[in-house]
Amino acid sequence: MDFLPIFIDIKGKLCLVVGGGEVAARKASLLLKAGGHVRVVSPDLCPSLKSELDRGLIEQEAREYAVDDLNDCHLVIASTDNPAINRQIYEQASRLRIPVNVVDQPELCTFIVPSIIDRSPVVAAVSTGGASPILARLIRTRLETLIPAGYGHLAALALRFRDSVKERFDKPSDRRRFWEKVLEGGVAERVFAGHMREAETAMEQALAESGQTQSVGEVYLVGGGPGDPDLLTFRALRLMQQADVVVHDRLVAKPILELTRRDAERIYVGKERDRHSMRQEEINRLLVRLAKAGKRVVRLKGGDPFIFGRGGEEIDTLSAEGVPFQVIPAITAASGCAAYAGIPLTHREYAQSVTFVTGHLKDGTMNLNWNQLAQPNQTVVFYMGLLGLPVICRELVKHGVSPEMPVALIQQGTTENQRVFTGTLSDIESIVEREKPKPPTLIIVGHVVELQEKLSWYKVPDKEE
Ligand SMILES: C[S@@+](CC[C@H](N)C(=O)[O-])C[C@H]1O[C@@H](n2cnc3c(N)ncnc32)[C@H](O)[C@@H]1O
Repeated sequence: MDFLPIFIDIKGKLCLVVGGGEVAARKASLLLKAGGHVRVVSPDLCPSLKSELDRGLIEQEAREYAVDDLNDCHLVIASTDNPAINRQIYEQASRLRIPVNVVDQPELCTFIVPSIIDRSPVVAAVSTGGASPILARLIRTRLETLIPAGYGHLAALALRFRDSVKERFDKPSDRRRFWEKVLEGGVAERVFAGHMREAETAMEQALAESGQTQSVGEVYLVGGGPGDPDLLTFRALRLMQQADVVVHDRLVAKPILELTRRDAERIYVGKERDRHSMRQEEINRLLVRLAKAGKRVVRLKGGDPFIFGRGGEEIDTLSAEGVPFQVIPAITAASGCAAYAGIPLTHREYAQSVTFVTGHLKDGTMNLNWNQLAQPNQTVVFYMGLLGLPVICRELVKHGVSPEMPVALIQQGTTENQRVFTGTLSDIESIVEREKPKPPTLIIVGHVVELQEKLSWYKVPDKEE
């Protein structure tokens, strides 16, 4: 982060704007909106500043800037057309530790003014650190569409009830849960519809009812997808940002974990190949214990929780223990890796079905129905198959598949470390031996792999120097 985003209270405080043009006028009006006491230093004023002066909203020093203008000043914005004066203001203000912004010159700024979505008292600010104000504005436009205008009223309602909610709930986690429920539920909907009185009644009711019931935790079994955070579902993201505790395993990519609530407790339960840091039964019990302690728990798994994810076992225990839960599906490794590698898993001319199997070795072998997997016109996807690759190739050929059958092995699909290796059942082992792919990897066997060269589209992002 190049800048620390903070919101400054400038109510009634002297803010200096040096320059009298339209840009200065825009900055002055922003300062006025936040309650600043605005003084403009400039021999001339553009019409909008002049009108504000006439209405008594700002004051003017009708002359050139002098260092004494900085006296008692809490913030300076310089927008003159004289570069030497702009620089001088920057240097003098920084020496006095007064926050200073020279418009459109990031190198002469100790603070920058972000693009703002104003739903006061809710204010969202977007900054690109001065790199591209236009991009910040585009992002702002997107956010504008996501944040209903009524959010300001909702925040005002929340403020009115803040003390009573605090009195009602001792535990911060109970308070948070209550707020999330009302701010996302019927109360919020009434506010957005403009029915403030109804919203107040609903709020009072929710408060009265919540006090009577004991807080119950919940477990969200959330699929984190194959790696690219953009592939998360909205619901996964929302619950990840609400949970008190995140129980995650190794397959969950770091950028995804970073999207969980910042102050949530994170519990790593491992599940590395041959190195389980917590046994499945222990994980199941942990989830029950946390939920019974009233926590909202996100059990975050790589890919989809119901595909080779043991999600079924975890919710089985929760169900037996009467703990409420939700399951949030996700893009499984097969879909993610295939899409990002440019390999359609089915195709009218090559494969009419697709099978997902585990290639996990047990006692050096795989207990699979090889006859079925060797059938033509299908695609077979092997999860956890890297170590067992020689067995996979040998068994498929033994059961009648051509040694020339195309195979793809995808390393860390959908991530910045994605690599795709293609070959055939007869040579993929030597390719893997040479290239030494890093787990997790996925193996796709079938004629659809022939399309990869033509359909490959995903380029891994450039690595930062
Ligand atoms: C225990 S399984 C979990 C699968 C997960 N539930 C899913 O739906 O993708 C782990 C295996 O999934 C595959 N896998 C998961 N993410 C992957 C990725 N980004 N790239 C390649 N393979 C992946 C690997 O075969 C790995 O050994």
